[in-house]
Amino acid sequence: MIWHPYTSQLGADPPLKIVSATGEFLYDETGKDYVDGISSWWVSIHGHNHPKLVQALKDQVDQLDHVLLAGFTHPPALELAHELLQFTNWKFRKVVYSDNGSTALEIMLKIAWQYFRNRGDTKRKVFIKFSSSYHGDTIGAMSVGGDSVFNRVFQSLLFSTKDFVTPACHDCPVGKNPRTCSEDCLDELEAYLSLHSDEVVGVVLEPLIAGAGGMLFHKPEVLKKLRDLTQRYGILLLLDEVFTGFGRTGRKFAYETADIVPDMIALAKGLTAGILPFAVTLVREEVYKEFLSEEPLKTLYHGHTMTGYPSGCAVALASLKIFQEENRLDDVKRVELGLEEGWSRIRAEFPEKLRNVRVLGAVGVGELETGQEKPGYIYSYAREFKRICLENGVILRPLGNVIYVTPPYTISKESLDRIFGAIRIALSSYHVPS
Ligand SMILES: Cc1ncc(COP(=O)(O)O)c(C=O)c1O
Repeated sequence: MIWHPYTSQLGADPPLKIVSATGEFLYDETGKDYVDGISSWWVSIHGHNHPKLVQALKDQVDQLDHVLLAGFTHPPALELAHELLQFTNWKFRKVVYSDNGSTALEIMLKIAWQYFRNRGDTKRKVFIKFSSSYHGDTIGAMSVGGDSVFNRVFQSLLFSTKDFVTPACHDCPVGKNPRTCSEDCLDELEAYLSLHSDEVVGVVLEPLIAGAGGMLFHKPEVLKKLRDLTQRYGILLLLDEVFTGFGRTGRKFAYETADIVPDMIALAKGLTAGILPFAVTLVREEVYKEFLSEEPLKTLYHGHTMTGYPSGCAVALASLKIFQEENRLDDVKRVELGLEEGWSRIRAEFPEKLRNVRVLGAVGVGELETGQEKPGYIYSYAREFKRICLENGVILRPLGNVIYVTPPYTISKESLDRIFGAIRIALSSYHVPS
């Protein structure tokens, strides 16, 4: 009956039926518990079913289910916009509501495009993107994603972009040492901008970590240089913090690490922490002011039916409050230490089977040695790896040969140990292809 996402329609393992959840645990029909090592696609930052989030949802539906946001407003939408602008230190001016990461991205792209047109600059047609980026599965979001199994079959349907190699300091694509380099991975981009910047709308990037494209890390200096370049050439810096936002990389937002402010950011996932689908795009004053016009064609004509729905706003508000009251960034620090410790034990035990082990915030990654340079998302052992982890009460979902752990920030030491115990068992039966 159900067409499951990213799932082959022939030969896939049957889905595991989960019936309840609490904290870092998901429970199946038999009562067996599983540690959610990936926060259910990176959303459950406070653990599952946090009682304050559940209560916020219940209270809101008792009060107001929904009202359209064109021509109307409501208290949770107003309050959340205020809180988000405060949480981002008043660096942004407007909050655009939507329903998921892909739509938050689409909105960011459309505002960027229209921003230049509203200024009378109609020749800019190019978005700059990076080769291993992932921004979602709608057509616009796929267009600014790197070539992958997620978008390959749709290539001729996508709008054209200018691609550059994804910065990856653990395995530098231009062969430099990240400790001493001058962010040389951006040299080609800089050369392109020096000739073509007047055709460019903006640069789209997942800051610090390109997630679904293989958990590729870059240092903050790369982000800083990108900000310098985009400012120097008068183009927009559009950051996708759908994965990295709300503490995942150790700060509230990844861009803070580089001490920069982008022109727009897209947020989802941790925003409502797994309780509801919900997203926002935050827009800076400089961009927003080009929409201050009575001319009909300078209006942003974008809205979804459930835009800014009260329950989403109420849950996001509650999540922001918990984030601050329960000191989530301290939890992220604790998880980071746990991930470093866990991965270093594993690396010491299986030095010949692992490469490029890296940790940042609540993201810990190790790559299976495969004997191939780029095994990609469809690396065969990923399925077996996932199966062994499930058998041992752990949910992990390698991206091809890239094994990553992105747990709820509230995960206990015991549960982290269970995750690394399962990784250990899975690695014991892995043989590097010769
Ligand atoms: C960085 C990034 N951007 C956008 C998206 C798309 O978000 P959604 O799946 O909510 O549409 C994802 C999803 O994983 C993501 O990781």
